[in-house]
Amino acid sequence: MQDIEKLEQDLLAEIAGVADLDALESLRVAALGKKGSVSLMMRGLGQMAPEERQQVAPKLNRLKNTVSAALDAAKAALLDAALNARLAGERIDITLPVRPEMTGRIHPISQVIDEITEIFAGMGFDIAEGPDIDDDFHNFTALNIPPEHPARQMHDTFYLPEKADGSRQLLRTHTSTVQIRTMQAKQPPHRIIVPGRTFRCDSDQTHTPMFHQIEGLVIDKTSHMGHLKGVLAEFCKAFFEVENVTMRFRPSYFPFTEPSAEMDIRCTFAGDHIKVGEGEDWLEILGCGMVNPRVLEHCGLDPAEYQGFAWGMGIDRIAMLKYGIPDLRAFFDSDLRWLKHYGFVPLDVPTLGGGLSR
Ligand code: DAH
Repeated sequence: MQDIEKLEQDLLAEIAGVADLDALESLRVAALGKKGSVSLMMRGLGQMAPEERQQVAPKLNRLKNTVSAALDAAKAALLDAALNARLAGERIDITLPVRPEMTGRIHPISQVIDEITEIFAGMGFDIAEGPDIDDDFHNFTALNIPPEHPARQMHDTFYLPEKADGSRQLLRTHTSTVQIRTMQAKQPPHRIIVPGRTFRCDSDQTHTPMFHQIEGLVIDKTSHMGHLKGVLAEFCKAFFEVENVTMRFRPSYFPFTEPSAEMDIRCTFAGDHIKVGEGEDWLEILGCGMVNPRVLEHCGLDPAEYQGFAWGMGIDRIAMLKYGIPDLRAFFDSDLRWLKHYGFVPLDVPTLGGGLSR
């Protein structure tokens, strides 16, 4: 009996001291293999008298189970340690810091376009685009501005040289061209915004020949002025990052909308800074209205069936307002010191959840 206890102690001590899987396997064979120490003892049971066997057999069984369990536990621990060592060795640090030389900046116009598209994408709008160089039909005629219409003069259009057939292409004077292109290309419902470059032959402190607009268009069977108002109110609150914006719709005229309105929002001018949302002053920010039935007809849609609203807004001016940029022309000077001051860090992508501007 002494032998069994001694053997158990020895085996457990050896197992505890084993350093690798090969050594552990040798130990297993030496104890539980065919000619192992425990197996030999068990084989000895056959030669024992029945009474003795009855006494010894349970002890030997226990020995066998204990050693076997200790071997299993040691094996699991060694495998675990091996896996951990491998994982530690293969670890890849994906948290490398941003390279210090990354000094590029996002232009405030690009930033504002990203912010606006983020807001309208959140409301389910798609982004549509169209060409900078367009034709008379998309820029004027289809938008209910026929050739003799006085609105053509107001647009100070840049024309390209006349073609053989007498037609002239032009640099689009507004993003409203993409209303037409969208309605021609697909069937309603439409829910789009169109950020893009626009051009007019005009240059002074508040005008540059190239500038940016964002157009919005919703066409379906039921949308009305109330929806327009709701969409624009949500937009203003999100864009100017304020809780409340008081708005006012002033009757206006655009050939492509009927009725037409200009939208003002409340603001306070405090020195060179402007607080948007509340205050004594009004700030005009966009033109809008219900899409004129004639525009729908030009796009092959039946105005008795379809209706909707549109709006157009200058991006440059609201970028100046939001970020306190005093001079419009600086936007297009490509002055790196200016960009460093007013630009945005590329990795700070505007999101509704994370904040539009940080
Ligand atoms: N296209 C107009 C402009 O450039 C802006 C505009 C006003 C667009 C009203 C619209 C609208 O879609 O409904 O001055």
